[in-house]
Amino acid sequence: MVLAAFKMFTLFNGSSNLKKRHEVRPANGSTAHISSPTLKVAYLSLRDIFTARGTHYDAFQGDPLGDYVSGGDSSFLRTIVQNLYYWVHLSLMVLSKRVLTIDHGDAISVFAPASAPTRNNYRPTLSEKLLGFVDKVLLLIRNKLCSPEQRKRNAESLEKLQQAIHDSVGEKIKEMIYLKRLATAPRCQKKGYGSALVKAITDIADAEGRACYLVSSNINNSFFYNFHGFYTVAQTILGADNPSWDKKPVVILLQMVREAKK
Ligand SMILES: CC(C)(COP(=O)(O)OP(=O)(O)OC[C@H]1O[C@@H](n2cnc3c(N)ncnc32)[C@H](O)[C@@H]1OP(=O)(O)O)[C@@H](O)C(=O)NCCC(=O)NCCS
Repeated sequence: MVLAAFKMFTLFNGSSNLKKRHEVRPANGSTAHISSPTLKVAYLSLRDIFTARGTHYDAFQGDPLGDYVSGGDSSFLRTIVQNLYYWVHLSLMVLSKRVLTIDHGDAISVFAPASAPTRNNYRPTLSEKLLGFVDKVLLLIRNKLCSPEQRKRNAESLEKLQQAIHDSVGEKIKEMIYLKRLATAPRCQKKGYGSALVKAITDIADAEGRACYLVSSNINNSFFYNFHGFYTVAQTILGADNPSWDKKPVVILLQMVREAKK
């Protein structure tokens, strides 16, 4: 309990240094579908979700989409609910083996399996049902705690993204694998972690014969994603008509990988 409170405190203060950092080393956990010669990709375990949250928080500082929808402003209560929601939501995804990591949370990515007919038979366990319920309640509370401006920006981004998906990919999106929440802790960036995670997920997509897509919240990542075979199918611009946004309009790219490699 004391440890959890300490971790919450450090997260609210923007630090993810919950454990002493060492040189880059591979994780020893169970490997997922793929691993590079030096970096082992593993499923994230529940005990690593605090590190994963810190990684996500630190990596997304200054993210254009995050800055826009948060409106640069968050109450203390909303920050607490946001963190609780993140942990519960991530735990839910961990239980259904959707979160890959390198080095116990230092880099993470989530993938959502396509909603193909064969997957509709999936039955969640009791703990997943319970967490799913808490997840929905926390999301509701978090949204209630948003300012009117934050709600407006959230609605704008959701609506424009859905329109972009509808116009470019349409119903096919249901057959694709969604790669999301890719993040590497800043001190581990440019060492191949992100690439190893993207490869692990595109390998899963290849094995299932599916295309893979992502929503890029930062146009600066385009070269990185292009290198991994993703190309832009649509783009949308946020904030251009919003008088309360005094920065450059935010460009959001909808990107998807080419047809699965055999
Ligand atoms: C995008 C992100 C996940 C990439 O993670 P990463 O672990 O740094 O990824 P990699 O190390 O595999 O590759 C990053 C770059 O380092 C280069 N690189 C990889 N290994 C390297 C090495 N040993 N030496 C030097 N450069 C290296 C890669 O070529 C790549 O270059 P590019 O950006 O010009 O394509 C990371 O920058 C991040 O977390 N950003 C903030 C969050 C974010 O934007 N997430 C994506 C939302 S859409």
